[in-house]
Amino acid sequence: MANLYDGKMAAIYDAMYQTFVNYDEEYTFYNNLIQKNNASTVLEIGSGTGNLARRFQENNQNYQGLDYSEDMIEIARKRNKNSSFIQGDMRDFKLKEPVDAVIITGRSTSYLITNDDINKTFESVYKNLTKEGVIIFDFIDANRFIPFTKENPIIIHEAVYENINYIRESHWDTNNSLENFMLEWTAKYYAINNNKKEIIENDFSTVRVFTLNEMELFLYLNNFEILQTIDRKTYAYDTYVIVARKKY
Ligand SMILES: C[S@@+](CC[C@H](N)C(=O)[O-])C[C@H]1O[C@@H](n2cnc3c(N)ncnc32)[C@H](O)[C@@H]1O
Repeated sequence: MANLYDGKMAAIYDAMYQTFVNYDEEYTFYNNLIQKNNASTVLEIGSGTGNLARRFQENNQNYQGLDYSEDMIEIARKRNKNSSFIQGDMRDFKLKEPVDAVIITGRSTSYLITNDDINKTFESVYKNLTKEGVIIFDFIDANRFIPFTKENPIIIHEAVYENINYIRESHWDTNNSLENFMLEWTAKYYAINNNKKEIIENDFSTVRVFTLNEMELFLYLNNFEILQTIDRKTYAYDTYVIVARKKY
């Protein structure tokens, strides 16, 4: 697991992502799928700093968030005093009550790097869904992402937070021999002070991108029936979103 979301990086993540993710649009997108599938109770996995949670809370929906990082959850709790957040691992969690929809948002599936991680996650989600429950999640499309990273060795994101300019330079190493389309992601974070670029954090994590076919097979093996596949462009990366129903 990346340490990217711990300590002060959680606050910087929160600031940066709000500058390039349109969370209103993100909420509308997921909520439409949730309503279309008649789900009234929702668990968001990878709830991060609670930006989607805020929209669910404002609409008085029955929402809970789950995230691995205590620091991300701390920010989410401050932002959403009336929502419930659970510190946990998507590969092994147990809710008090099953829910009608589990959403895994913001490409959090990229942190499931082994086949075992994915199977365990789908198994846990299955156990925590009601009888006709649905899973809705996105993942980065390997077929488009890998050529993109080869053509763009350094990807730059900029953000302003509390009057400080931050720059993130990402480099994705595609020239290694890692299994399963795993990639080494190096992210250098800089703050600009008096026109001087100072490095504040150097992060390194291993992430995975998927082909649509392999994700379809993982769902089949874990007793999910695919209802809908959406080809969705998000900031910088092309993703697929899958809606699948639990088979019983
Ligand atoms: C890219 S962030 C997305 C956060 C949020 N959905 C958003 O769009 O802003 C990925 C999140 O997944 C969480 N995460 C990574 N691995 C996890 C795991 N095994 N179980 C639960 N959460 C995990 C991280 O802590 C982080 O908050």
